[in-house]
Amino acid sequence: MTGWIIPPPKKPTKTREQFAIERTEKVRQLIRKGYLKSKRIREAMLKVPREDFIPDNYSDYAYLEVPLPLPGEQATISCPHSYPLFYEPLGLGQGHRFFEIGLGSGYGTALAREIVGSEGLVIAMEFDPLTFEFATRNLRNAGYTDIILIRGDGGLGYPRFAPYDRICLTAACPEIPPPLVEQLRTGGRLIAPVIERGTQNLVLLKKTEEGVRREIICEVLYVSLRGRYGKDEGAF
Ligand SMILES: C[S@@+](CC[C@H](N)C(=O)[O-])C[C@H]1O[C@@H](n2cnc3c(N)ncnc32)[C@H](O)[C@@H]1O
Repeated sequence: MTGWIIPPPKKPTKTREQFAIERTEKVRQLIRKGYLKSKRIREAMLKVPREDFIPDNYSDYAYLEVPLPLPGEQATISCPHSYPLFYEPLGLGQGHRFFEIGLGSGYGTALAREIVGSEGLVIAMEFDPLTFEFATRNLRNAGYTDIILIRGDGGLGYPRFAPYDRICLTAACPEIPPPLVEQLRTGGRLIAPVIERGTQNLVLLKKTEEGVRREIICEVLYVSLRGRYGKDEGAF
């Protein structure tokens, strides 16, 4: 991935207490910068220990604004501000049935689980087998046992639990995969990085009775979607 300078791997040195201080400071910073607005997202970010979703040799960097490498091909945990950047316009909230494509470390999935609460449901898919295994272990170790985790091509969606109230795609695609739009509930929202004329735009879709409304939030930089609707699969 170009555009980010990834710090060198090193032995972990920080204590739980140091991480807790950094986590609180990060949440304050995200509020100050206008990324973090809603109470449920704020509380989830204060609760979930991001350092537990990062390979040991990068965990000291957990609260830096950089994506960090994960086991698997081209997989990263996104930088901390990415989560409110996606979840705030998505309006992710209590009781939602949430579908995430691109499980990565499982950190965003854990945040979503906290946000939707016990009335909601989280379904997450990951393409890469090594990344999937890493995230599954992280979520299990963190005590999340009621999230539905699926290994496969998330671009195809997962009709079994559709329709979804909210869908979040965390890898960049040349077009929003049509099965995902189909599996979105009317009244629902979908967010995804979309490759457009050489850059990536974070795109928000709102599905209404009248049709699908599209809004660009900002420019972003994400790893590419793989599989049927990925960049190299002839979708261009
Ligand atoms: C930026 S990372 C996700 C970060 C993640 N949200 C986290 O909190 O760690 C994007 C992920 O999408 C996965 N991915 C790429 N194409 C995919 C596909 N077609 N289906 C499911 N996952 C895919 C990648 O393997 C990678 O793990």
